[in-house]
Amino acid sequence: MKKWYAVIGDPIAHSMSPFMHDLWFKEHGINATYIPIHAEPAKLEKAFQAMKTLGICGLNVTLPHKSSIIPFLDRLDETAVKMNAVNTVTFEGGKSVGWNTDGDGFVRSLAANPLPENPKILVIGAGGAARGIVFALKRAGFSDVSVANRTYRRAEELAHAAGCTAVTMKEAELALGQYNILIQTTSVGLAKDEGLPLSMEHAAAGSLAADIIYNPLETPFLKAAKEKGCTALNGVGMFVYQGAIAFEKWTGVEPDTEKMIGIITEKLGGNYVNR
Ligand code: ATR
Repeated sequence: MKKWYAVIGDPIAHSMSPFMHDLWFKEHGINATYIPIHAEPAKLEKAFQAMKTLGICGLNVTLPHKSSIIPFLDRLDETAVKMNAVNTVTFEGGKSVGWNTDGDGFVRSLAANPLPENPKILVIGAGGAARGIVFALKRAGFSDVSVANRTYRRAEELAHAAGCTAVTMKEAELALGQYNILIQTTSVGLAKDEGLPLSMEHAAAGSLAADIIYNPLETPFLKAAKEKGCTALNGVGMFVYQGAIAFEKWTGVEPDTEKMIGIITEKLGGNYVNR
């Protein structure tokens, strides 16, 4: 029988996960489909129970349900506990298990680039996305990680929890040239004509600037970084790799991420070769 998978969110219409997973199912000859499910917060529990009743084989969870799904799950992976957020659910012997593949997705995307030894990393932002990334960076062995945030207290809290350093936005701006990798995790740049989360004046040429936003492909942060001679990495890789890790958990198959990054980039109006 055909297996089925889904992503649940509110809104959900613009999610590219159904396109991506359906293509991977097709490429690997897996008899399965992946559908978007729209559920308002008040309907999440009923929607989740209904999906289980109907034999769902795997689920992605997106905004605003990443934390509110947790009480309905049977078990949580250690990373999902630390994040207090779930983006992937597996079903093992009738039991639901919550995972968070966002941070590891980002780190895989980063690691696909040439990186210096023991790079000095600055994470800009201290929200949920930053949290996943900082913990994943530490787990992957990156030891020199600093966090800067508009609200300094949140940077301090995250740095304390993850065992890294907090800096103020001003300190980060002035010392920007010392970092090999800059990671932009705030929501600044999602909306049209938005500015920068911090001044890029002192960014060092040759450093790597990564944004977790993938639409638009080039945020003002990445544009400013390129103007300073940095290499730009947009959020398409993180999106594809978080999905690939979920796909591996569900099917045991490692999908072609490189090709998918190219396809998604072109779907978003970009040119993968000259990204
Ligand atoms: P997410 O889970 O997507 O990370 P979040 O938890 O709401 O969302 O975090 C949003 C991040 O963007 C925070 O780091 C926030 O900074 P504050 O903690 O000071 O709110 C950051 N952010 C949002 N708007 C910003 C702006 N205009 N300038 C700088 N940082 C901003």
